Amino acid sequence: MNFQFQTLADMINRQLSVFPRHKLFLNRRFDSAGAEDLIFCEEISKMILQISGDELPTILDDYRWLCGVFMEEELFFRREGRYRHRTFEEAQRTVYSDRVFHSRYLNGHLMTHLWWANHTDTLRYFRNVFLPANKQQFRHLEIGPGHGLFLYFAAAAPNAATIAGWDVSPSSIAATRHALFAMGAPRPVDLSLVNIFDASEARAGDQQFDSLTCSEVLEHLENPPEAMAAIVDLMAPGGRAFICVPVNSPAPDHISLYRSPEEVISLVRDAGLAVEDTLFALPTGVTLERARKDALTINTVVIARKPE
Ligand SMILES: C[S@@+](CC[C@H](N)C(=O)[O-])C[C@H]1O[C@@H](n2cnc3c(N)ncnc32)[C@H](O)[C@@H]1O
Repeated sequence: MNFQFQTLADMINRQLSVFPRHKLFLNRRFDSAGAEDLIFCEEISKMILQISGDELPTILDDYRWLCGVFMEEELFFRREGRYRHRTFEEAQRTVYSDRVFHSRYLNGHLMTHLWWANHTDTLRYFRNVFLPANKQQFRHLEIGPGHGLFLYFAAAAPNAATIAGWDVSPSSIAATRHALFAMGAPRPVDLSLVNIFDASEARAGDQQFDSLTCSEVLEHLENPPEAMAAIVDLMAPGGRAFICVPVNSPAPDHISLYRSPEEVISLVRDAGLAVEDTLFALPTGVTLERARKDALTINTVVIARKPE
């Protein structure tokens, strides 16, 4: 680990103080990290410090807890070849309606953007590849912003005009609002409690967006193609979408299982969008070939454009 990245180094030490068994994992994660990754992780560390404030010890402990929850789901997935829950109601019972569980889940998920290379790479691709190619004065919407890191980067983009975030969960909206305030988002962000399936009622008039993010949301839904249709409807002609779906990614609130990046690409194409670029982001030390063979997680990102 190169200690010119002092905030990251401190964050690693603090994480290991509550989760010593993670040492091998974090050593591997950062021993193989390139300069660009380390610079970005230093930046993410600072953002997480701002978001967490005095709550950092709780957030680090919630990450330790989340790894245990995910391990149980991984074992189920290996044994049964499917996700444990198939309906929104089952996920709701386990995750969303249990306030403590959901809060720990949100906190742990925030930390994964630093510790899990597939999440860090997805976020960096969003900031470095997706946002700069948007047109000047783009109108942006994120569905399911959760921790708020993607939305913050959109709000910080020099070519952005307006920024909105819609989420179905009041606690997620509260977390996004807190994060954007704590990081000092450079533009106002319009946050609303909206279910993507009610998008047509939620939009103001014939409101449309030039840029839309839907990251790690579709696998939470019973009917992703219906959500994709709603997304396409919200996009302006020529508008761009950043769609991210983790394949083979067991979690207690994942109910729609995609088994290959190609299935995700088809989901996007079948909704009527043209694929502009893709990223298959992998866990540390895993090749794409091995991920396909052993059904490991691949964060599949599709940048797609709505025809004019
Ligand atoms: C795992 S988080 C994703 C956070 C962030 N976008 C990311 O990529 O890391 C999923 C988010 O989607 C929201 N969500 C789930 N179902 C939704 C729906 N039907 N409509 C809008 N948001 C939804 C959840 O409340 C949560 O904030």
